[in-house]
Amino acid sequence: MSFPSKVAIDGPAASGKTTIANQLAERWDYLFFDTGVMYRAVTWIALKNKISTKDEPAISSLAESVQIDVKPPSKDDGREYDVLADGIDVTWKIRKPAVDAKVSRVSAYPIVRKALTQQQRRIGLRGKVIMVGRDIGTVVLPEADLKIFLDASVEERARRRFHQRIDRGEKVDYPKILKKLKKRDKKDSTREIAPLRAAPDAVVINTDTLSVADVVSRIEEYARKLDNETDA
Ligand code: DC
Repeated sequence: MSFPSKVAIDGPAASGKTTIANQLAERWDYLFFDTGVMYRAVTWIALKNKISTKDEPAISSLAESVQIDVKPPSKDDGREYDVLADGIDVTWKIRKPAVDAKVSRVSAYPIVRKALTQQQRRIGLRGKVIMVGRDIGTVVLPEADLKIFLDASVEERARRRFHQRIDRGEKVDYPKILKKLKKRDKKDSTREIAPLRAAPDAVVINTDTLSVADVVSRIEEYARKLDNETDA
């Protein structure tokens, strides 16, 4: 069987996109590309350089000039890849709550989106890619062969985020995580440009009661169906 060449996986924060896409990419020997890391890297650099994330012109020119690279993992510390921003290893730094709190604002700026979308599209068009984000099926790769929209209740997503953080040895508070996720959901889905939304031709999967293996096998089923349709 041949797998679809360009796969878009969108969905809200902590819906399981990264875990699922990573497994599929391993099984199919595809590139896994998590586009959220680019918005996070811009946010982290801004915070590090004490640029206010409210300063749209400064953040926009930062996004146009920063060099973001995603490379195979250089350390065995649980990372799935290295994220480099202007040569600095920011893989874990971009996962900090300070970045979580500001990234939605940064990702709503039109020039930021334009600059990062262009880079993402270039990578996506090479094919054999599983690309993860909020607007992959709608904006970055509207011609994707298979579009998946992963969803889950905000409580379940907060629970998953809570456990991820505990596993990383961080101090966490469930009600705070839940509150912050709700805030990000609202910002991501109500922004003017490329809001979080399932493409009309996306397959929507609610993962509340599904295991990772269940979701992976469902997506492979859709991929098989597509392959059969192309053969027919
Ligand atoms: O998937 P994530 O939580 O790492 O994404 C971080 C933020 O980046 C999220 O709040 C919305 C934004 N984002 C986006 O607007 N478009 C994408 N394609 C990916 C992420």
